[in-house]
Amino acid sequence: MKDHRGRLTKDGIRIYEQSDFAGMHAAGALSARILDDIADHVFVGQTTGEIDRLITQMVEDAGATSATIGYKGYEHASCISVNHVVCHGIPGDKKLKDGDILNIDVTAIVDGWFGDTSRMYVAGKLPRKAERLVQVTHDALFKGIEMVKPGNTFGDIGHAIQAYVEAQRMSVVRDFCGHGLGRVFHAPPNVLHYGRPGTGAKLEEGMFFTIEPMVNLGRPETKTLADDWTAVTRDKSLSAQFEHSVGVTADGVEIFTLSPGNRFHPTYSS
Ligand code: MF3
Ligand code: CO
Ligand code: CO
Repeated sequence: MKDHRGRLTKDGIRIYEQSDFAGMHAAGALSARILDDIADHVFVGQTTGEIDRLITQMVEDAGATSATIGYKGYEHASCISVNHVVCHGIPGDKKLKDGDILNIDVTAIVDGWFGDTSRMYVAGKLPRKAERLVQVTHDALFKGIEMVKPGNTFGDIGHAIQAYVEAQRMSVVRDFCGHGLGRVFHAPPNVLHYGRPGTGAKLEEGMFFTIEPMVNLGRPETKTLADDWTAVTRDKSLSAQFEHSVGVTADGVEIFTLSPGNRFHPTYSS
């Protein structure tokens, strides 16, 4: 898909117009609302395939399109990554067990704008170790988001996330990153979840991108399974991820994918 809006920086990052924020807000709100609504369908014995079927239906009912169906041959409206799956888990007929943690990642397209967001869920009772991992990953995302304002750099975002995660003796996945988005799914820059302060491109008002740290309880290395999608931790340790789509404003950040029902964190009371 070609995108001729705004202008490109010297790093090839698109700068959108003030009026484009409304489009991202609408797309982000739908994706976030779907993640709110799916929460009641996550339980012991449920299959990830059924969760994906419901998400497909919700996207369709909203008159929107799923960005992932048909993307590089991917066939589903969501990625569902259980336990040691880092990302890009393919929904299927495996049933959730008590204490499983899972990331559900949805990208809806509304009027040509892409809203990309993911969060963690639990089937049954959240185990202690998993609870710590989920909390740290959630908080790491917000450490990154706090750095989003004109004049800071992408390295500032990565550093804030990495420093926080490693201080908790957990590790940041290096093999996958956030990305620019807007009228397209994946655009420059690569938003790394590690880095050094002051390095990388400078943030400017009108940049739209995701921050989506993946955090492992063990080592950071991943491998991709024979299905060419499912990424797992090499050491089989638990992994968690949260993702928001954000825009740089004149004095900070707009989070496009905020949860309408305040259900972003899995320990909300329903
Ligand atoms: N939503 C994922 C992201 O955060 C991309 C999934 S691509 C798919 O960038 F094809 F695996 F769905
Ligand atoms: Co993304
Ligand atoms: Co995503």
